[in-house]
Amino acid sequence: MRIPMIVGNWKMNKTAATVAKFMDGIRDNLPDSRMIETAICAPALFLERMVAHTADMPLEIGAENCYFEDSGAFTGETSPMALSQAGVDFVILGHSERRKIFRETDEMVNLKVQAVFRNHMRPIICCDETMGQRENNDTVHWVVAQVIEALKGVSEEDARTAIIAYEPSWAIGVGTPATPDQIEEGCYLIRQTVADVYDDTIADEVRVLYGGSVKPANINEIMQKVDVDGVLVGNASLEAQSFLELISNDP
Ligand code: G3P
Repeated sequence: MRIPMIVGNWKMNKTAATVAKFMDGIRDNLPDSRMIETAICAPALFLERMVAHTADMPLEIGAENCYFEDSGAFTGETSPMALSQAGVDFVILGHSERRKIFRETDEMVNLKVQAVFRNHMRPIICCDETMGQRENNDTVHWVVAQVIEALKGVSEEDARTAIIAYEPSWAIGVGTPATPDQIEEGCYLIRQTVADVYDDTIADEVRVLYGGSVKPANINEIMQKVDVDGVLVGNASLEAQSFLELISNDP
């Protein structure tokens, strides 16, 4: 039985003051993590204080990116070793905004996936899909290739703890998600690719999330799909009330 996940991705938002206000706003309203795993991925600047703030809360903390070396002359980058030692649980990798804006390649994503596992954290690997790829019926090739590349060199033991998100960039930030059937198609494709690379047992353990305009009003229908284990939420995770409504609306 895969535990459902609700993960917020704050992107480049919040300040120290609004982070503290958010944490106080959700403090006494989170579900038992054995029922629903909830997490917030935030800018690196806030992570250490968020880990400290949530020490007594069923909320896990994640980063939104990291480098693939643990230390060295990489100005401006964030060390996966330092994130792990700061108590960070997850790292979002390969988000479509990083692939598009910062030109991250599948190879870089794979190096980062290996670095996150090496530092005993769990990657949230994002698979993008553009509208052009969908209109050209190129979804299968594109999503499958991203999963295969991201998991290169990853052991079975690590792979079973991976979290992979189907995040069609054409549904991000627009207010309207992909249809439930499109979501199921993308998540099924990811799970089948894991089965092909490893086996059915590992594919059944991997958590597959959907991201792209998830809101309290649509999360219930999305979470009903058989291959959807959770959601990766941007805008609707920024305010405490909305984040709590996502959780309370989860079936
Ligand atoms: O990583 C999740 C994010 O890209 C989705 O953003 O604002 O469409 O929920 P949003």
